[in-house]
Amino acid sequence: KQTGYTALDQGFVNTASTRSEITYIDGDRGILRYRGYAIEDVAAKSTYLEVAWLLIYGELPSASQLAEFDENIRRHTLLHEDLRRFFDALPHSAHPMSVLSSAVSALSTYYEDSHDVRDPEQVELSTIRLLAKLPVIAAYAHKKSLGQALLYPDNSLSFVDNFLKLNFGNMAEEYEVNPVLSKALERLLILHEDHEQNASTSTVRLVGSTEANIFVSISAGINALYGPLHGGANEAVLKMLSEIQQSGEGVQKFVERVKRKEDGVRLMGFGHRVYKSFDPRARLVKESADEVLADLGVSDPLLDLARELEEVALADDYFVERKLYPNVDFYTGVIYKAMGFPPRMFTVLFAIGRLPGWIANWREMNQDPNTKIGRPQQLYTGPETRAWPQR
Ligand code: CMC
Repeated sequence: KQTGYTALDQGFVNTASTRSEITYIDGDRGILRYRGYAIEDVAAKSTYLEVAWLLIYGELPSASQLAEFDENIRRHTLLHEDLRRFFDALPHSAHPMSVLSSAVSALSTYYEDSHDVRDPEQVELSTIRLLAKLPVIAAYAHKKSLGQALLYPDNSLSFVDNFLKLNFGNMAEEYEVNPVLSKALERLLILHEDHEQNASTSTVRLVGSTEANIFVSISAGINALYGPLHGGANEAVLKMLSEIQQSGEGVQKFVERVKRKEDGVRLMGFGHRVYKSFDPRARLVKESADEVLADLGVSDPLLDLARELEEVALADDYFVERKLYPNVDFYTGVIYKAMGFPPRMFTVLFAIGRLPGWIANWREMNQDPNTKIGRPQQLYTGPETRAWPQR
């Protein structure tokens, strides 16, 4: 109802846009739960698809439900041949996030049935198609940037293994999945699966509130994720670490520049709108960084640099007073790099991780009888009525 009073809340710092049963965050205590399950348990005991089911349908799947879900997704991994050619129309230099959002938007042109957002069967089918095809599109965006041939999915492989083969396999030789790599990537994807009303998920809901189909809603979410203040931070962290390393300016000097806000420079991978004591995902990522690099037989001075940067920042009043701690993006880039992904793919990996959360939120929004089209107010600050000049 119109009350005649509009409160200004720039950046939605104090305004809840929806009720939701999916994810719970207590930012002061560093708690994150998916459907009531602690992220620490979820990350240690589950698989990407099991968590996807949990987020989307609300409960853990039985063994047969999970097997059927997995099978169904494997059957939908192929892209229409015309869509495979879509990648030819884009330049090699295209950022894979732009390729990803464009191709996901294009999916809705192949699945016109998805426009019927009130039909539960279509929503179900679109859910499966998205889960099956996003990793394939992501791998094609990667291959495209390398100028390499696009492989067909190998449906004998698990979700994560298939993705790895599409990225790192080639036509000339057999690709054997490294189980260490596969396990580490699965864990990182799980940690990204949902995070309640962040910028990209809110975007998915806002677009979806107009009754736009799930493909275009999620394409919009991918674009929101792209920015360096959101998912793009993982790529930005690696850039920042490399620049500190190459310039030789040293961590202390860099931190001083951040504190002076010189040219708006920020410590990327630090700070969060909600977490004000620690980000539980960052803790889990940091724990596994050492392990993963050792298992993969990679040593990277950037990991030491990141550790030093964290130590210096956490002991500094500027960061303490503002409650700035490492977030999920601080250490992920170093791990993705060790896995062999180029920095421009880092945010794409975040998108694959976040996909189940976007789907779950879109569906919750779609099924909620109280959903209204999202339409924020503004406080007008322009000129009063003016007479059109005589000319
Ligand atoms: N480095 C230096 N100063 C910072 C940082 C940072 N990373 N983050 C916040 N601040 C300062 C900011 O300048 C402000 O200082 P002051 O009070 O003197 O004006 C104060 O801390 C509050 O910052 P804010 O911008 O009002 O906080 P916010 O809640 O609007 O922004 C944020 C949250 C994540 C956008 C921000 O912390 C940031 O830009 N971090 C770096 C980018 C990043 O790592 N993003 C990933 C977020 S987590 C994963 C995801 O969501 O994708």
